[in-house]
Amino acid sequence: MKISGNTFIVTGGASGLGEATVKTLVEQGGNAVILDVNEDGAKRLAQELGENRVLAAGKVDVTQEDEVAQALALAIKQFGRLAGAILCHGILDASPSITGYGPGNALTSYDQLKYVSNVNFLGAYNVAQKVADILIKQEHMTDDGERGVIIMVTSIAGLDGCILAYGTSKAAIAGLVLPFARELAPYGIRVMGIAPGAFDTPMTQVLPKEFNAAAVHLQLYPKRIGQAQEFSSLVSLILDNVMLNGSVIRLDAGTRMFQ
Ligand SMILES: NC(=O)c1ccc[n+]([C@@H]2O[C@H](COP(=O)([O-])OP(=O)(O)OC[C@H]3O[C@@H](n4cnc5c(N)ncnc54)[C@H](O)[C@@H]3O)[C@@H](O)[C@H]2O)c1
Repeated sequence: MKISGNTFIVTGGASGLGEATVKTLVEQGGNAVILDVNEDGAKRLAQELGENRVLAAGKVDVTQEDEVAQALALAIKQFGRLAGAILCHGILDASPSITGYGPGNALTSYDQLKYVSNVNFLGAYNVAQKVADILIKQEHMTDDGERGVIIMVTSIAGLDGCILAYGTSKAAIAGLVLPFARELAPYGIRVMGIAPGAFDTPMTQVLPKEFNAAAVHLQLYPKRIGQAQEFSSLVSLILDNVMLNGSVIRLDAGTRMFQ
């Protein structure tokens, strides 16, 4: 799927990995539609990059069906059609223990689990399902019959069984990739996942320094935190390469997390 001239939904596009994705899409000639609860951040980025290329769709909570549907309708109104979505929204919850006696001794309450799962996992499902419904109904765009690409952002915490509420919500997102890829394949829509390790974004900048240092220590090479453009360049590669489908790619400098 070429980026130039095409339009992509970016959830969480007002900050961090989503913001870098929006910038890369625009640099490569594409358009981006930001779905984010951070309305001001989205507006600021759209003004910086050009409102003809970036649509800040207002305050959009990915867990709200009507808000997402309205934002997608705005996107179609401005750009005519979509070529995919990159789901970069997310919240971090660092309560790692089931009982309160486990790692970190910080009990994860049932309410916390529900809250984090709702935003990270159900929000991803909500947007992916609605975008898929639009892509299916559009004409194909390439000789391969491609109609679009959906990229889910999970985390190595989800794949390696770490950080209970956050990690399980991210494992559930990774679990969406193959079912979506199978169901959408007949329509020429690819679905991929990216599982980042530690990246330097507002999400990790608020963590204690020792936490990020410990994450970097687990990396094989290079021993430094990832930069957001290193994430968005993988997004660009996935969009470009039609053979990538149904997998989750670790982007983690060789990290394997443990509690
Ligand atoms: N930064 C890392 O080290 C890292 C590592 C692994 C995975 N990730 C994942 O990458 C994605 C991007 O993270 P980031 O580091 O850029 O974080 P970030 O905090 O900089 O950006 C997340 C964005 O999601 C938005 N958001 C939160 N809840 C929302 C909701 N209900 N509806 C719409 N938007 C919402 C926020 O407003 C924010 O703009 C997240 O899914 C995160 O879990 C990040």
